[in-house]
Amino acid sequence: MTDPTKLKAWQNLQSHQAQMARSSLKELFAADPARFDKLSLLLPGMLVDFSKHAATPETLHLLAQLAKETGVEALRDAMLAGERINTTENRPVLHTALRAPKDAEILVDGKNVVPDVHKVLEAMGAFATAVRSGAWKGHSGKEITDIINIGIGGSYLGPQMVTAALSHAHHKRLTAHFAANVEASDLERILARVNPETALFIIASKTFTTAETMQNAHIARQWLLAHYKGDEKAVARHFVAASTNTDGVKTFGIAPDNMFPFWDWVGGRYSVWSAIGLSVMLMTGPENFAEFLAGAHDMDRHFAAAPLEANAPVVLALLGLWYRNFFNHPAYAVIPYHACLGRLPAFLQQLDMESNGKGVTRTGERATTPTGPMIFGEPGTDAQHSFFQWLHQGTDVVPLDFIAAATTPYGNAGQQAMLLANIFAQSEALMTGKDNAAEPHRNFTGNRPTTTILLDSLTPRSLGALIALYEHKVFVQGAIWGINSFDQWGVELGKVLAKTLEGELKSGTPGEHDGSTLGLMKYATSRKK
Ligand code: F6P
Repeated sequence: MTDPTKLKAWQNLQSHQAQMARSSLKELFAADPARFDKLSLLLPGMLVDFSKHAATPETLHLLAQLAKETGVEALRDAMLAGERINTTENRPVLHTALRAPKDAEILVDGKNVVPDVHKVLEAMGAFATAVRSGAWKGHSGKEITDIINIGIGGSYLGPQMVTAALSHAHHKRLTAHFAANVEASDLERILARVNPETALFIIASKTFTTAETMQNAHIARQWLLAHYKGDEKAVARHFVAASTNTDGVKTFGIAPDNMFPFWDWVGGRYSVWSAIGLSVMLMTGPENFAEFLAGAHDMDRHFAAAPLEANAPVVLALLGLWYRNFFNHPAYAVIPYHACLGRLPAFLQQLDMESNGKGVTRTGERATTPTGPMIFGEPGTDAQHSFFQWLHQGTDVVPLDFIAAATTPYGNAGQQAMLLANIFAQSEALMTGKDNAAEPHRNFTGNRPTTTILLDSLTPRSLGALIALYEHKVFVQGAIWGINSFDQWGVELGKVLAKTLEGELKSGTPGEHDGSTLGLMKYATSRKK
């Protein structure tokens, strides 16, 4: 693996950084009145403004040079062509195939995968239409009113985030619930609110072995059977699965007809476009789901073809890397100014941190540069009243992404103006700061960079494009760092230890552990309910 820090482009960027660090964002705007036009991109349904960054067109050019020298374009093309770029799992990475049009051809081992993708989409569509119309009945003949998605990680965060984002399009009779946590109240509180005769459970799990999901799925099944006095036939009317594991689904007792499959070339955090998105389709309908896929496909085409310096995911990736590696900013924040996008930061945490939280390169060497940053976020304007103090006056600089919709079906014009005023005020304040030598506690250093992504409106299509924008951004950064963004071995060790400890806690006989672990086990098991 080429060490990116040894490349000419990297060294040029180091010298350029020393020069850029001498000018403030305010000075950059003063020096170039056309800066906004040069450093923003108009895509279908959205504007991406990256002019409030410590960058000029020359910076972008030098960064794009780094992308070229590290082979980003070749790896992108290999991914889109279905090559096995997930080397540690020997798999292609083809979430883009999930949103490819019917007539596309994407080959895996010589077989076009697109017809299978559309076959599953059609099956999901037929099922969703039946549930939504009321033609699909529960075991006692009643229409479904509650969809309960049981899944975790990518089998939860994507469906939950997208379902909430598209609230305005929800079917009036249906309510969606999401149970992920193994902590019992997560599922129990949902079960307490729904009627077994009108509940539909989606067991969403790529592997169908994930401990939390399997535990919750079995509890839900027992709950249903308890209501129907053990009549196993009820399971077929109230349980469906989205998975790649046909045998696991069968063993659990879900009929093959009620299973919506997908493929090992879909990573968990990239799976909302697959059968894992069934809850989204049930809540918003097949047409909206198709629009969601189409929006992502628009972004895929842009990513595949636009020149690097005018390629939105590439530019966002390069700017992120600019701060991470050349300014040493270890974190960035995502602030959606839309209550419906409240779970976007959590979704992006998995997407980015599970993808690029790696310290070893694709060829097994230690990475020579810091890799994926820490990400956090909450919706604005709420967040303005919590951690924004730290963003404005804290000693660390945290680049931010602001995301908003210019128009909304909610509220009135006055409310929307107030919202937009807040977003624009925050990025302006973060950039310009305020000198106040007399009262240092009221001094704002400013010069804090932000990107603003302004959607025309939050629709299935623009949401699809927005998520794909971030997916490709993460890909580009991983490609430059030379890491595999598509595995997640870092979550394995904890899973294995938990299995051992679970056995010991259940039997009451602790094994060999450090003093702290033993002390915690002893204290916990000595407490009375
Ligand atoms: O533990 C991490 C992880 O493997 C994620 O990558 C994945 O999204 C999640 O668990 C759930 O996995 P599954 O869909 O197989 O239940």
